[in-house]
Amino acid sequence: MARTVRVLLTLVAAAAFLAAVVPDRRYDESTEEGALWRMGELCTVEGEFFSGSGKCVNCHAPDPDGEALVDAHGATVSPVFDWQATMMANSARDPFWRAQVAREGLINPGHRDEIENTCTACHAPQGFHEARLTGGDAHYTMADLLADDLGLDGVGCTGCHTIDNIGLAGRFNGDLPVNPEKVAWGGFENPWDGLMSGQTGFIPAYGQHFRASEVCTSCHSLYSHTQDLAGETTGNVFFEQATYLEWVNSDFNAEGVQCQTCHMPLVEGGAIAATQPNWLFEQRFGRHHFVGGNSFMLKLMKDNAEALDLSATPVQFDSTIARTLRGLQQETAALNVTQVEAGEGEVAFEVEVVNKIGHKFPSGYPARLAFLEFVLVDAGGDTLFASGKWSEAEGIAGRDLPYEPHHEVITAADEVQVYEFAFADVSGAETTILERAATVLKDNRLPPRGFTSAHAAYDTVAIGPAAAVDANFNRWEGAEGTGADRLTYRVDVGAYRGTVEARVRLRYVSVPKRWVSGLLAASADHPDIEAFRAMYEGADRTPVDVAGAAVAGWTGFVAAGGDWVLVPNPAGVGQAVRLQPGGSVPVVRGVVYDAGGRAVAELSREELLGGFVPGRWVQGGTYLVQVETEAGTEVVRGAVVR
Ligand code: HEC
Ligand code: HEC
Ligand code: HEC
Ligand code: HEC
Ligand code: HEC
Repeated sequence: MARTVRVLLTLVAAAAFLAAVVPDRRYDESTEEGALWRMGELCTVEGEFFSGSGKCVNCHAPDPDGEALVDAHGATVSPVFDWQATMMANSARDPFWRAQVAREGLINPGHRDEIENTCTACHAPQGFHEARLTGGDAHYTMADLLADDLGLDGVGCTGCHTIDNIGLAGRFNGDLPVNPEKVAWGGFENPWDGLMSGQTGFIPAYGQHFRASEVCTSCHSLYSHTQDLAGETTGNVFFEQATYLEWVNSDFNAEGVQCQTCHMPLVEGGAIAATQPNWLFEQRFGRHHFVGGNSFMLKLMKDNAEALDLSATPVQFDSTIARTLRGLQQETAALNVTQVEAGEGEVAFEVEVVNKIGHKFPSGYPARLAFLEFVLVDAGGDTLFASGKWSEAEGIAGRDLPYEPHHEVITAADEVQVYEFAFADVSGAETTILERAATVLKDNRLPPRGFTSAHAAYDTVAIGPAAAVDANFNRWEGAEGTGADRLTYRVDVGAYRGTVEARVRLRYVSVPKRWVSGLLAASADHPDIEAFRAMYEGADRTPVDVAGAAVAGWTGFVAAGGDWVLVPNPAGVGQAVRLQPGGSVPVVRGVVYDAGGRAVAELSREELLGGFVPGRWVQGGTYLVQVETEAGTEVVRGAVVR
């Protein structure tokens, strides 16, 4: 109880102080106290099955005393604080979602209520299920949602925590088994109940299923009943989102790496789970990060928070955006580039893109895409060739309409590798209207490691037709499940002779202009579409760089056949030299020895294969490079000439 009083006093004191120094504002948004005030604006409606997330603030918001809900460094791990600025917390206010719901309703006015009922199931689960379970109207529509704070709370605390462990692996389209007794399941054993059920009616309890991917399944698996162009259902279903099934068909599943392992990282050493009572001890604690790849919408929502009536502060949005970028840039994909043999007047590089995450990259909403930018420059830094340049005006250069085919070899500037999902309606024409999706035109999104066509869940998550017959896509030397794509860029360099550099970037776009252009053209007067148009056009749409690599090469490159060689040999004093391995044994590092047998430099794998200048250490004459490989050592001889 003492702690409750302290919390309240802190808030009152902070408010009085801030009211005095910031006359036109109730709080300073850059402080935790400011965030606490904002949390006071969260929904506090108590329903029969769900309550607003504001009901959890009293004990699960940041602790002003810094004792509960902190990690070993004293930083807050409060689930309310972390969750409030995520896409899930804002799923019912997301302006892109609202515009898309409006568009689908305009296309199919006869099915509008049904469509809205479908869309609210996952984006506004508390409102949807409360209405369903208390026997409201047959449909929970957008009009119902706008009048219902419980629905506007998005994927709120009780929207997740009341999910029972009943057949979870086979539930899709937001079909949640909601606990009828207000049990709030969580990830640690023997929680102390007393205050929590007394204050909220929800009983904290340990649910083993909260540590497993299946608790995410029903909202992260979405199929539609295909409709023809007249709006009649064809009787077929089409999987639009299958993040869970992609994960099922991967090594991550077999290795016990759950959605939570990556999306709710555990606090090292645990944390005290509630600010009251004050005698609790550390428990297992999963952070409510919930970040994916959508930094674009998070920024758009931060910039329009007032118009959208969002409760999170700019500081909270900034942390979620920073986490999203960190995930995309450090955990998502690896890029390897190596020079391969080419004909006279040509230079060729093989690019390998490796997916490191537990589902396809990209996954989720079918608009998401990633693409490769490949730029070849000459010794003077001038561009010899470019594929996949992005500009604000044109988007991805050379991208075909209606979609770019999957490539195994790229030889022209108007060819670009785009990792994406494209589908057609019953007539075979490409469409972005999900209700009409009937067949897959393209799906070369990178599968997770261990993904195979032999898996029982393969059909719902199949690789698209062109990538499925690419021997270097998710396959290497016949074995399936690499989670990687290898493709070759073969570039005509004309009369140019000399060194070149290949600069490659893997870039990600969550809300591509081409995808939303149909939506924005749909109607000039639906307020939800208009609101989104203004926000979208005012936003910075620059793609996010996920991975990059730059490698040196030469014209006239000959792939070494058995002999380990240095090229060119001999080399000029200032000239860069590159190791060409004689076999496929991976190189680890190397040591350079001068003619007198003295070790003069140590080289990394990247320096050996990408280029180093022996003339920096060897003024003239011969030198040796002792190369350490995963199988032993190789000694390679070279010479420097003045
Ligand atoms: C099975 C649950 C489920 C249902 C039903 C559902 N969605 Fe979603 N929706 C999701 C999930 C999960 C994501 C986020 C995936 C991601 O981030 O890639 C999403 C994302 C979106 C996005 C992208 C939002 C953004 O900010 O980038 C739009 C637009 C969208 N949904 C529209 C709809 C519409 C329209 C309907 C109804 C026809 C609908 N959704 C029904 C689960 C669902
Ligand atoms: C009056 C304080 C209080 C409020 C308000 C409160 N909780 Fe709790 N909560 C607790 C305490 C105390 C624990 C147990 C901590 C322990 O045993 O270490 C707990 C534990 C939990 C757990 C963990 C259960 C487990 O075994 O893993 C969940 C989940 C949870 N609360 C959800 C909620 C939700 C959702 C709300 C809002 C509807 C809420 N709490 C509101 C005090 C509160
Ligand atoms: C998208 C679903 C989801 C939402 C939304 C959500 N949680 Fe959780 N929460 C989980 C899962 C899953 C765990 C278990 C994580 C683990 O232990 O691995 C968890 C764990 C917890 C725990 C116990 C710590 C632990 O690791 O077991 C508490 C307390 C808690 N949540 C409170 C909240 C509160 C308060 C909110 C709203 C601000 C909230 N949660 C929103 C899914 C959710
Ligand atoms: C009640 C439905 C529901 C449940 C349960 C649920 N999600 Fe979501 N999730 C959504 C919706 C809806 C969105 C999309 C919100 C939007 O973009 O407007 C989403 C989006 C996401 C995103 C994308 C964020 C981004 O920035 O791209 C991640 C990651 C995510 N969820 C992880 C999880 C994990 C992990 C679990 C299980 C612990 C889970 N979700 C359970 C409905 C749900
Ligand atoms: C090995 C780590 C890992 C596992 C396991 C994992 N994810 Fe992800 N997930 C990520 C990373 C990193 C991203 C960001 C890259 C991206 O946007 O695809 C991401 C992105 C997402 C997105 C956004 C989709 C997109 O492509 O923008 C959703 C939704 C999501 N994850 C849900 C889930 C669900 C549900 C599970 C379990 C079935 C899961 N994740 C398992 C690491 C993981």
